[in-house]
Amino acid sequence: MNALDVDRIRAHFDFPAAQRVVTNNAASTQPPRELIKLMETLAPGYENVHRGQSAASRHTTALFEASFATIAAWLNAPSRRCVATYRNTTEAINAVMYSLLTDFRDGDNVVTTMLEHNSNYVPWHALCREILPRLGRRVECRLARFDDSGRLDLDHLASLVDRRTKLVCCTGASNFFGSKPDLARVRAIADAGGYPQPTGERRALLLVDAAQLAPTSALDVRAMDVDYLAFSFHKMLAPFGVGVLYAKEHLLEHALPFLYGGDMIAEGRVTPETVDWNSLPWKYTAGTPNILGTIVSAQALRLLIDLVMPTTFFGRSGPIPRIAIEEAMARIGRHTANLTARCLAGLSQIKTLRVYGPEHRTPLIAFNVPGFSPFALAESLDRRGVESRAGCHCATLAHHALGLDPPASCRLSFALYNTVEEVDRAVEAVAEIVAGDRILLTSIDHELA
Ligand code: ALA
Repeated sequence: MNALDVDRIRAHFDFPAAQRVVTNNAASTQPPRELIKLMETLAPGYENVHRGQSAASRHTTALFEASFATIAAWLNAPSRRCVATYRNTTEAINAVMYSLLTDFRDGDNVVTTMLEHNSNYVPWHALCREILPRLGRRVECRLARFDDSGRLDLDHLASLVDRRTKLVCCTGASNFFGSKPDLARVRAIADAGGYPQPTGERRALLLVDAAQLAPTSALDVRAMDVDYLAFSFHKMLAPFGVGVLYAKEHLLEHALPFLYGGDMIAEGRVTPETVDWNSLPWKYTAGTPNILGTIVSAQALRLLIDLVMPTTFFGRSGPIPRIAIEEAMARIGRHTANLTARCLAGLSQIKTLRVYGPEHRTPLIAFNVPGFSPFALAESLDRRGVESRAGCHCATLAHHALGLDPPASCRLSFALYNTVEEVDRAVEAVAEIVAGDRILLTSIDHELA
């Protein structure tokens, strides 16, 4: 079944030498050494893009533009014209909100879910409650609920979508429950709404927040038939600072940009009366972008494949066969699913501990233990060398809906470089803290055998 060679993968990273058990990967992953070095490698030719005639500028421009092609190929998007880069998922979703702002009509609605990260709820709340009311327009933000297992209630979602639903916004994987909504069904529900879009289509647009889905799944935006999809590279091995917005080309052609300024205009086509936009995707790249970050982020995708397969995509810019992306992500998905199952089995032995979410999930586990503050738990775990995250994980709506006070949980989350031993160490540390004593979880292997 092509299990990952985790030792080989870990040799590319610096964190194991620091004796860190990195199990807060849903927040951010660790950068492989190659990506940090790549920044240095780019230094001799350091130059701006689209803004110079030097060989250095032309070379950097070629690398930067090739990055958009890599990202498009990763998503199976028709071309780089469908890709815009922002600082992160949050900014990408804000870009959609501001681009669509002028399209909303009085009486429209946006449907999102109680599972969302704040990045896919707060912009829609702000649009409906803060921004459009000041322009004299009433647009409602509706929230689909989740069931007892933390799965999206699709019947409730369907009951909220009607002919005035311009947009449905849904997470690809909850960063609290780990549940993964059936996006094909969400698409069908959005289609059934029948909203008359200015582009002529008669259905609600669909935006997917793929921040937690992208790190362990191959995404195919054409098969998913999403209108918008956003994710961040800092959860996919790259350093902080770059996020992606995929959008269907006709939507990007039609929409107003989020940011205005340099380079997003057609060369020389600015007069006191008119401004013409640059061609896609540069219409959505106002000002000097995060050039090195974008190049390194696209290379992170190529390196991700090389880390789990005997391929050599890193450092190049040619096409990546779809099959390689799908196989690499399937291997990562299986490995992280096994770690998650093992962790769930281990935590289930701690009788008072409550895990949130269903069994089938993205590789993260949020939990609480009665009598323990999740923050104190996370700090105690850290003292035992295990890194976790306590808080609401920006999934504040869901924590409140469960009546959690404070609205918080402790969360462990896994990536391709985590080992079975690390999972056991994390579970053992939780058990020790809860028991106030050392408990050896010898039966985990037995249970999973
Ligand atoms: N959204 C990230 C998390 O879930 C930061 O931790």
